[in-house]
Amino acid sequence: MNSKTENLIESLKKKYSNSGEDLNVHLEGLLHSKPITYWDYIQLESLLGIQNPRTKHPDEMVFIVYHQTTELIFKMILWEIDQIAVRKDLNATFFAEKLTRISRYFDLLSNSFEIMNEGMLVEQFMKFRTTLTPSSGFQSAQYRLIEFASTELINLIDIRFRKTINRNTPFEHAYEHLYWQAAGKNHNTGAKSTMLIEFQEKYMDDFITFMKYYHKTNLWTRFKSLPLEIQNELELRNAMRHYDHTVNVKWVMFHYKTAGKYLKSSTKVRATGGSNWQKYMHPKYQKRIFFPDLWSLKEQNQWGIDNLKDYNILTK
Ligand code: HEM
Repeated sequence: MNSKTENLIESLKKKYSNSGEDLNVHLEGLLHSKPITYWDYIQLESLLGIQNPRTKHPDEMVFIVYHQTTELIFKMILWEIDQIAVRKDLNATFFAEKLTRISRYFDLLSNSFEIMNEGMLVEQFMKFRTTLTPSSGFQSAQYRLIEFASTELINLIDIRFRKTINRNTPFEHAYEHLYWQAAGKNHNTGAKSTMLIEFQEKYMDDFITFMKYYHKTNLWTRFKSLPLEIQNELELRNAMRHYDHTVNVKWVMFHYKTAGKYLKSSTKVRATGGSNWQKYMHPKYQKRIFFPDLWSLKEQNQWGIDNLKDYNILTK
């Protein structure tokens, strides 16, 4: 037996004796275990078995898989953000590298959104969408979690109520005034739509827990906790701006354009979730910005107006 093997066995002995287990039993287990395969490792059969269209229109399959793919990417984004949130010796390189990776995920989502826009037959979409009412991508909880994890809560509050809310406002109260409540509330009566009520019943408690968790560890708060000279590093500032723009303008505009293609075909067509979608979805109205301090006033005023153009990269 070579010394590397001996060392490994010695380490394994230690590992198992620490937890009162017998190494020999584990070694014998290795003799009997099946080789791992690609399909078992990534649970391919389960993954490919969770698409259940509600109609016979073939494009509905594409619609489902594309939503599922987006949710998997959202999961990776949340995974990366949490690495920044819990990092003890956070530095500019680690922060910028992770942010760039997160942006790549959102770039991928933005650049692939055309799959929903081009190639899907409007008449098929208009048929299968009726079976989805009153659900909507609006009910994507991970999308909301990405927002909570990215910025201070105040930046997610509906612009009309920002003055009435501060860091001491109870989370439950802030929740009621998040910008996205507007998509599901009657403007005059405040009555909530089925889409919003269902969403709230399923996720509100989790959202409040998450809001509390990210209150002090969201991307912006972590950025502000860094020494000033690190905050001023161009690579990091540009990575923050790129992320902000990709999430809040680029992706949103591809989404808006797609909604326009299907829902604008008749002024009478309502979104499946029931929102006044033109006003709700266009970034120029809500001006959702995760890191407003990193944008000049002029840039903020232009938010969503020079929509598909690249954001301006800061230079020295
Ligand atoms: C044909 C494709 C699509 C159309 C026509 C469409 C339409 C809409 C509309 C009209 C809304 C506003 C809320 C409402 O339903 O009343 C919305 C919200 C939303 N959709 Fe889609 N959508 C499409 C694809 C997608 C995809 C692929 C995703 C990926 C998960 C997605 C995620 C979302 C999210 C996260 C929201 C909330 C956005 C916000 O609050 O600003 N949508 N969608």
